[in-house]
Amino acid sequence: MPQVAIVTGAGTGIGQATAQMLHARGYNVVAADLNSEALAWTGGIKGLIGVVADVSIESDNEAMVNAALDTFGGLDAVVLNAGIARRTHWEAEDAIDTYDRIMSVNARGVVLGIRHTAPKMAERGGGAIVVVASTSGVRADPERFAYNASKAAAINLARAAALDWGVRGVRVNVMAPGPTMTSIFQGGKLTPDHLAELTRNIPLQRLGTPDEQAEAICFLASPAASFITGAVLMCDGGVTANAGIFAPPALSTDQ
Ligand SMILES: NC(=O)c1ccc[n+]([C@@H]2O[C@H](COP(=O)([O-])OP(=O)(O)OC[C@H]3O[C@@H](n4cnc5c(N)ncnc54)[C@H](O)[C@@H]3O)[C@@H](O)[C@H]2O)c1
Repeated sequence: MPQVAIVTGAGTGIGQATAQMLHARGYNVVAADLNSEALAWTGGIKGLIGVVADVSIESDNEAMVNAALDTFGGLDAVVLNAGIARRTHWEAEDAIDTYDRIMSVNARGVVLGIRHTAPKMAERGGGAIVVVASTSGVRADPERFAYNASKAAAINLARAAALDWGVRGVRVNVMAPGPTMTSIFQGGKLTPDHLAELTRNIPLQRLGTPDEQAEAICFLASPAASFITGAVLMCDGGVTANAGIFAPPALSTDQ
């Protein structure tokens, strides 16, 4: 029987690359996303279905899990990748609304994802959850207090879940990407000068690709990582190996 995986935020970017990689490696995949149009790519692929789901809504998490159980007969791996990033200024009028929305997707979404998938995997003898966090979860970036907080929460939620679910065979790990070429950059206002400045501060001197992030996620989800739980795997071109470079706010790349 093929393994069954759920990937959230699978419409574009890292989530799409992960869903496609897991599928190419023999998994049956539920690709979930808030944006139905972004899921158009899932049409007509055997062993892969698209499900419209907002990870911050409990009933959508239930529906996503039921889709895996009803369509593919089980659940073995879960990638909690859906996330949003926005600039947050402490004094802005909408600062608290922005904070609430970011926390509700990036942190509450992780709680709901674990809450609804871990028991189903434990019932079948075990499984793996990979939470996609960020370098912003292990140190702070300027003008992004909500995103920084949400990703730090995601990391410690994963560690807590690793403790609580390990005894029932469910591994829970974090993959923390650094700057990666997705819509966050392509859709942003990143000029060639900004890109050059940004990459100058990355030891590997370039942005990562969605496929490079997907490789790290697929490793943590796979039996190759069978004794790894509660870990944080940085996939960031070396950014967090250097604690000392401050990127001025002008180089922020999200909206
Ligand atoms: N790209 C980077 O440089 C980078 C760096 C660090 C961390 N990350 C993290 O990686 C993850 C994926 O980011 P990406 O770069 O691929 O972004 P992206 O914007 O290309 O893709 C994110 C996807 O998540 C979906 N989504 C947003 N809110 C959702 C919700 N409430 N429920 C379900 N789906 C939702 C979007 O529709 C989109 O398809 C995010 O958690 C992000 O914070 C990205």
